[in-house]
Amino acid sequence: MSPTMHELVRDWDGLSVVLKHDRESASWFFIALHDGTLGPPTGGCRMRVYARPEDGLLDCMRLARGMTLKFVGAGLAFGGGKSVIALSRELAGTERTGTFLRFGRLLEALRGAYWTGEDLGTTPEDMATIARATRYVHGVREEGGGGAPAGVVDPGPYTARGVVAGIRACVAHLFGTADLAGRTVLVQGVGDVGNPLSRLLGEAGARVMVSDLDQDRAHEVASSVGGTVVPPQEVYRTECDIFAPCAVGAVLNRETIPRLRCRGIAGSANNQFEDESADPERLRAREIVHAPDFLVSAGGAMGLIHLSQGLSVEEIYRRINGIQASVLEVLVAAEEEEQPPHQVAEARVLATLRELEKARGGRPLADQGSPAPWPPPPAD
Ligand code: PHE
Repeated sequence: MSPTMHELVRDWDGLSVVLKHDRESASWFFIALHDGTLGPPTGGCRMRVYARPEDGLLDCMRLARGMTLKFVGAGLAFGGGKSVIALSRELAGTERTGTFLRFGRLLEALRGAYWTGEDLGTTPEDMATIARATRYVHGVREEGGGGAPAGVVDPGPYTARGVVAGIRACVAHLFGTADLAGRTVLVQGVGDVGNPLSRLLGEAGARVMVSDLDQDRAHEVASSVGGTVVPPQEVYRTECDIFAPCAVGAVLNRETIPRLRCRGIAGSANNQFEDESADPERLRAREIVHAPDFLVSAGGAMGLIHLSQGLSVEEIYRRINGIQASVLEVLVAAEEEEQPPHQVAEARVLATLRELEKARGGRPLADQGSPAPWPPPPAD
């Protein structure tokens, strides 16, 4: 039997969960606060239909833990958090707007205990709606700050840059050079991340293959980058150098891993393993090099947060490109230690977190305040 909400909350290792049933939309708001050692629990807001609300809560808690790993790995002083609006049916128009406004009011009442941003199933427009009710949302630039126009920043292109860095690390580890020219890369999911990723890969000379449940979108992106389309049911047995999962999680599991015909995996999808205790080792046994998703997908968080801190786009790109070196270091260490990279990276991140916690000596965190005005978004 699947666990109840009560059991899920009882067995979680995070700080706390906020839950609210939104009667008007017949949906659940879940906010999972995983860790607050380095800063306020922060992470995107995911919205989708779940068969059972419990599935949404579990997703939320797992994703929040992933954010803790992501922030420590990226050297950002934030804690792991995530929110899920678990729908019982799709929402549109004023019903959708109203739901985000009520969600925003909840965040405002929490006074910064959790900061949100865009994620799977939510859009820049949704973030702008939330921002009408609360200031605790990343990526929404207020009008007039430094003369910059009001707007909402899409983290997707920043995430995509980080994925390229992760792919380069895999390629360097496998083939001795980070050059992507002539390498085949299969991108699963051409949404907010997969689309700009395909473009960057094409520009770097890679042979791009794309797959998406939405066939029209797959063809559109493939033709714009000179790539080819792989039907969704073929993804796990298509030969390629690098497989880049950029859609849903749990795509690496006991069914798919034995079929894979790639040499390496680096993508932005969160929680790529269905079973974290067994699947990383399954991949290692097949000598497939996997770049830990919480390192590879940090570009979006870096973009949103560093923009709000006033860093230039060039400086942010420089930091995101640094993902290549940190992933490569983990891949090399994992090979030496004969461990899956995922385990090695997670152990390192958790050790760093414990050290930082000790260094703080239980003192409360300084108030991090509201984000500063933003520079204009990148031209690409
Ligand atoms: N949802 C994206 C991520 O998980 C972007 C994001 C980062 C949103 C940080 C809010 C805060 O990385």
